Amino acid sequence: MSDNVPVIAIDGPSGSGKGTLASALAERLGWHLLDSGALYRIVAAVAIARGITLDHESELAAMAEGLDISFKEQKVIVDGEDLTDLIRTEGATSLSSEVAALAGVRAAILTMQREMRRVPGLVADGRDMGTVVFPSAELKIFLDADAETRAQRRYNQLKNKGLSVNLPALLDAIKKRDERDIRRAVSPLKAAGDAIIIDSTAMTIVEVVAEVYAEVVARRLAEGT
Ligand code: DC
Repeated sequence: MSDNVPVIAIDGPSGSGKGTLASALAERLGWHLLDSGALYRIVAAVAIARGITLDHESELAAMAEGLDISFKEQKVIVDGEDLTDLIRTEGATSLSSEVAALAGVRAAILTMQREMRRVPGLVADGRDMGTVVFPSAELKIFLDADAETRAQRRYNQLKNKGLSVNLPALLDAIKKRDERDIRRAVSPLKAAGDAIIIDSTAMTIVEVVAEVYAEVVARRLAEGT
């Protein structure tokens, strides 16, 4: 980990397109990628599996600290087990924003996240990348979109996977999760003062990537850009 290694911090609510933006940028630049939401999802999925409930904050924090997590070829491996699909289930998704409100869990995950700042650079995607985890990031993006558009995008994604989905229920779940992420006391979802705010409601992901990439070039953040 080094403060000299450049970081692009991408924050925003779920469904804003930040995950797609982050992976497109990381691939284009040849940088590492941190999907910090996956870490909270892992804590939630393992908590469910081990029967640890939300009222046991120190137990959850100790559990989070003890996990051996690796991201290999799009797979999420935890203590040798493939949890890629499990962390995307509705149960883990919903509990993830609840465990994310616990200061002990956030502290346990903080070090893991900072250790991912490695050469040649890191693209970090989450809710508090620019405000708390990497306040010295060279470029901070806050990607937003209205809730209806985000729910519709999620609906299309799930539909394409052949799953049966209900749009009003998705919208309701997204609003509840936003509310929890914005209102929590520790590291709430908010734009850093020096973030560039992009509203992707009326934009395609290609347009969003092009806008952010132009910023990377203008700031001479990566070699060869
Ligand atoms: O980005 P995501 O939907 O995979 O994130 C899952 C949950 O984790 C989300 O509801 C809020 C939480 N989270 C967080 O609190 N801080 C982050 N940096 C990333 C995610």
